[in-house]
Amino acid sequence: KAVKRLVPLFAGLSLLLSACGREDLSVLRPQGTVAEEQLGLIKLSITIMVAVMLIVFGIAAFVWIKFRRKPGQNEVPKQVEGNFKLEVIWTAIPLVLVLILAVATVQKVFAFGENYSADKNAVKVKVTSHLFWWEFSYPDYGITTAQDLVIPTGKKIALELKTADVLHSFWVPSLAGKTDTNTDGTINNAWIEAKNEGVYLGKCAELCGPSHAFMEFKVKAVSDDEFNAWVDAMKAPAVLPEDPAVAEVFKNQCLTCHAVGDQGGPIGPNLTGIGSRESVASILLNAEGEGNYVGSKPAKDNMKEWLMDPQAVKPGNKMPSPKEDLGLTDDEINAIAQYLADYKLSY
Ligand code: CUA
Repeated sequence: KAVKRLVPLFAGLSLLLSACGREDLSVLRPQGTVAEEQLGLIKLSITIMVAVMLIVFGIAAFVWIKFRRKPGQNEVPKQVEGNFKLEVIWTAIPLVLVLILAVATVQKVFAFGENYSADKNAVKVKVTSHLFWWEFSYPDYGITTAQDLVIPTGKKIALELKTADVLHSFWVPSLAGKTDTNTDGTINNAWIEAKNEGVYLGKCAELCGPSHAFMEFKVKAVSDDEFNAWVDAMKAPAVLPEDPAVAEVFKNQCLTCHAVGDQGGPIGPNLTGIGSRESVASILLNAEGEGNYVGSKPAKDNMKEWLMDPQAVKPGNKMPSPKEDLGLTDDEINAIAQYLADYKLSY
C-alpha cells in the first residue's frame, strides 16, 4: 500500500527529470572527440560501480537466505571474529578498482588540457569569461567576437581560457568540458573538436552571480569554407547605422564600451555582425538562428527587449540601461535595435 502511494511521486519526479534532458545539453550524446572520450570514462566508472553493487548485493542476499533462522533453531550460531585472508581480499579489490579509475581519469585529464596552440593545423581561440558573457578572440585572424564561438568542423580548436572578473567555467556538454577560467591570471588550456556541423549549446558551469544560469554561449561548427568566409566577413569594414542621428547616438553611447569592426571599445561584448548570432544576450533565442529553438523570437524583438531593460533579462549584468542611465528615447532604442538585428555578416 505504501508503495502504491509512492507511485504518483515517482511518476512526477521522472516527468520532472525527463524535462531536464535537453538533447543539446547531454554528455550522453557526444558530438566531438573530447566528449566521446569523456563518455568512455563515464561508462568505465559506471560499469565498475554496477559490477561492485551487483556482487555485494548478491553476496548479501545469499547470506540472508542461506543463514536465516530455520524453524526450531533457537541457539545462538557460532560467532566468528576477524578473517585475515578475507580482509586482505576486500582491501585489495577496491584498491585495484580505484587505481584503474585513477589512472584512466588522470591520463584523460591531462589529454583534455593539452596545449595545441603551437599546432599548425589547430585554430587558436582565446576565451575570456565575463559577468555574464563570453568573449572569443582569434589571434591568428585578428578578430574578436562574443557569445557564438564559430569553429571549422573536424579541426582541433586550441582554447586558452581566462577570466576578466570572477571564476567561471567553460562547458559544452556535447563537445567537451568543463574547464575553469581562473582568477589568478593563470591560463587554462583545453581543446575541442566537433565531428559534425551544427550548433552546440555551452554553459557557464561555475556559480558566478545572479545570472549564472543565463551565462550561455553557442559553438557553431561550420565547414572549412564557411569558416574562412566568416573570418573575411568579420574583417570587413564596420557597418554603422544609416541614419546619421542614430549613428551619432550609437557612437557616443554604445561604442564607448562595445566595438564594431575596428571602432569602439573592448569593455562590452564585440557587436560585429551581431544580427547573425544565434541569440541576444545569450538567452533570448533568435528565430533566424540555425539552432532550432523552442520559444525563439525575431532578433529585432529580442534586441529591443534587451535594450529596454537589460536588468530584467539578465539580473546583475554590467550594461547600463539605455533608457534609465543613458537617457535614450524609445525611438532611439527602437532604431538601434533594428540596426543591430539587421547587422548581419554576409558570407
Ligand atoms: Cu559564469 Cu557561472
